[in-house]
Amino acid sequence: MSSRQTIPNEITPFNLVIFGGDGDLSKRKIIPALFHRFADKQIKVDFTIRCVSRSLSDEKAFKKTLKDFIELDLKENEDSAGIDHFLKRVGLLKIEKNNVPSYCELKEDLEKTEDYQNVYYFSVPSAAFSEICNTLKSSKLINAKSKVVLEKPLGNDLKSSIAINDIISAAFKEEQIFRIDHYLGKETVQNLMVLRFANHLFERAWNAENIEDIQITVAESLGVEKRAGYYDHTGALLDMMQNHLLQLLCLIAMEPPSSLNPDAVRNEKVKVLQSLRLFTKDTIKENVVRGQYTRGANGATKLNSYLEDIEQYNSETETFVAIKAHIDNWRWKNTPIYLRTGKRMKKRYSDIVINFKELPHSIFPESKYPLKNKLIIRLQPEERIELVQLSKIPGPGGYRFKPISLKLDFIDSFQDPMPGAYERLIIDVIRGNQTLFMRRDELEAAWIWIESLNKHWKKEIPLSLYESGSWGPGDQILDENIKWQTK
Ligand code: BG6
Repeated sequence: MSSRQTIPNEITPFNLVIFGGDGDLSKRKIIPALFHRFADKQIKVDFTIRCVSRSLSDEKAFKKTLKDFIELDLKENEDSAGIDHFLKRVGLLKIEKNNVPSYCELKEDLEKTEDYQNVYYFSVPSAAFSEICNTLKSSKLINAKSKVVLEKPLGNDLKSSIAINDIISAAFKEEQIFRIDHYLGKETVQNLMVLRFANHLFERAWNAENIEDIQITVAESLGVEKRAGYYDHTGALLDMMQNHLLQLLCLIAMEPPSSLNPDAVRNEKVKVLQSLRLFTKDTIKENVVRGQYTRGANGATKLNSYLEDIEQYNSETETFVAIKAHIDNWRWKNTPIYLRTGKRMKKRYSDIVINFKELPHSIFPESKYPLKNKLIIRLQPEERIELVQLSKIPGPGGYRFKPISLKLDFIDSFQDPMPGAYERLIIDVIRGNQTLFMRRDELEAAWIWIESLNKHWKKEIPLSLYESGSWGPGDQILDENIKWQTK
């Protein structure tokens, strides 16, 4: 789509086929998200959902499980009576690996609604994408109206990502490919565009001249839970940094796009990724920390170590990464960007902190505080924007002042519950709006930077252990102050 075309907005009838339809993501996120949009009457058109499973065949039992998951996610204004109505459109489809006859059955089935668009959602590990894509292609299940949704991480390095993208691109055009990153569907993440490009105040100061550093933190209190198999091959670098944190960085650091058109936005994001300073064997040492959680506690709850969680005692997989990055362009020259993420942190929170530079001259010689401002964009769990500014303490005693926060809590201004990330993204797929999805060149630029790290980091930096329920190795994550250490 050219950057001048209008953004598609129409929801037309669709068949959604979810590969990995019996998996966790499908049950917890994709299906409930579709239910919410259906209950809200945003989806008014006819549609079907087929959940593909390699092992399940009892549709009745499967639908009961889906109902339980939807009920768990039910919003205050939703009625559980609507769930059965919704589930009438959902079916279970058993397809064993690479089984061509089952794809032929799927084809016959989809041909009953041949004027609908067919959306194939690959909610399986990316190692299976090529085979599914090739079988869809050889079974003639792909036409000009079809779309494909690809879950992350796409590949496990640049080479495998290129190989998978080549196969997908031989079957689908780039306009039909939706590389999903659920962080881009979060309301507070979308608000970054509004905060920056609809407010005069911030954008004027948004550069190296005024900003000392930027800190992006995604702290999770949970451990790897039941995903040991997946996580131990992925680690925090590929699970979180390569996608979610880099996407946040793009939105914070990009130049204003000329419009909201998908390519106008993605052109600017790709430039940020291409300007990230690559690591070398030597620069990794002082700019990167990798850690793994050990036993610990959260309040009275005792927590296992990562090795106990995955039941393997020699794993060196990281559950924590902290990176000091640089963007080599005019806007961000010499502005460090701290990117941090970890599992089993003391508290779950994600935020972006913009630390402004100190004023060039102080007329308050007695001041205890440096004359600087801070903008805290809290993405979750509470959605809030906080501007820390210095204010005079009322009363006598001269110009005594302290930092206070001007807070905008979303909940006070917007009473309706925020829609979940998948709700927005799935509707965008059906509408054909790619603004919130990664383009191929964007993904490859992200891989190039990650590879500069991945190539050497295991050899160059020791794994730092940190206690479950702490703030990471050497308390890397602190709310108020960054203590930057690499040991
Ligand atoms: C997923 C990762 O993409 O994002 C998980 O695979 C992680 O490991 C999750 O827990 C975090 O998402 P959220 O929306 O809970 O911040």
